[in-house]
Amino acid sequence: MTRARAIVVVGALAFVVVVVIVGGGGCTLPGQPKGVSLEGQPSKVEDFAALYASSCAGCHGENGRGGAALGLDNVVYLAIADDQTLRRIIATGVAGTSMPAFAQSAGGGLTDRQVDVIARGIRTHWARAETLSETPPPYVGPDGEARRGAGVFATFCASCHGSDGSDGPKSRSIVDGSYLALVSAQSLRTLVIVGRPEIGQPDWRSDVPGRPLASQQIADVVAWLISHRQEFPGRPHARSR
Ligand code: HEC
Ligand code: HEC
Repeated sequence: MTRARAIVVVGALAFVVVVVIVGGGGCTLPGQPKGVSLEGQPSKVEDFAALYASSCAGCHGENGRGGAALGLDNVVYLAIADDQTLRRIIATGVAGTSMPAFAQSAGGGLTDRQVDVIARGIRTHWARAETLSETPPPYVGPDGEARRGAGVFATFCASCHGSDGSDGPKSRSIVDGSYLALVSAQSLRTLVIVGRPEIGQPDWRSDVPGRPLASQQIADVVAWLISHRQEFPGRPHARSR
């Protein structure tokens, strides 16, 4: 090998090393979701897994298994929430809570097509064919009455949440004003119907043997929970949601 040739070879090798180190070679920036790249033309991404991972997983958990917000990979949830409901909530969010609006028409970053991909994907990926032995109560309930709700709470909830909901053996307070200020009445109804198996919250079939909660009882216990918002001085939400 001539001297000049050796210099070229060494130079080429050094270049390869630099490319491997600088060009990534598998290294990702801290906090960057793995395996998801929305660089380039984010509005063209139409893959459910990529869209879910970048927009939803931070709150609803990886693969819909739940996190700060409920797991959407929940057979009961997908039995009571229809396509229109899913689509509407994803597009416009839930005002006054941390659920953002995603549609560009509502100030979010996703196209209508992407919103559709996510809404449809949740159902096609997660609604298992498993049949429920009983029909769950409807997504939207009747008006509730807080006074009756106190009785429902004592029967169905106090065993885990304490007699007044503030110091249960299995949970932090669920009558805390700052918690209730940030959740909608619908999300409480949803929770009581569909449960959150990932955190130990039973669904409407309840942990009282042979006594599933009826639609009206759920409306009443939600009204009772919501009535605690008023005990929070300076609560940010005057209207009921
Ligand atoms: C910053 C956190 C956050 C992100 C990100 C987020 N969500 Fe939510 N989501 C929430 C919270 C909190 C609620 C409950 C809101 C309430 O109180 O009604 C919620 C509620 C929902 C509901 C309604 C549940 C019901 O009661 O019917 C659906 C459906 C939903 N989210 C889907 C999604 C999807 C799909 C994405 C991604 C495109 C997403 N969310 C991103 C926090 C989030
Ligand atoms: C078998 C025990 C059990 C029963 C019965 C039960 N819960 Fe829970 N619940 C839990 C656990 C565990 C959590 C999670 C607590 C935590 O994260 O601090 C929870 C959480 C909650 C939350 C907060 C959810 C969230 O997303 O942060 C609410 C609201 C709630 N329960 C309402 C109820 C109501 C209303 C009833 C009665 C209809 C009820 N629960 C019955 C165990 C139970």
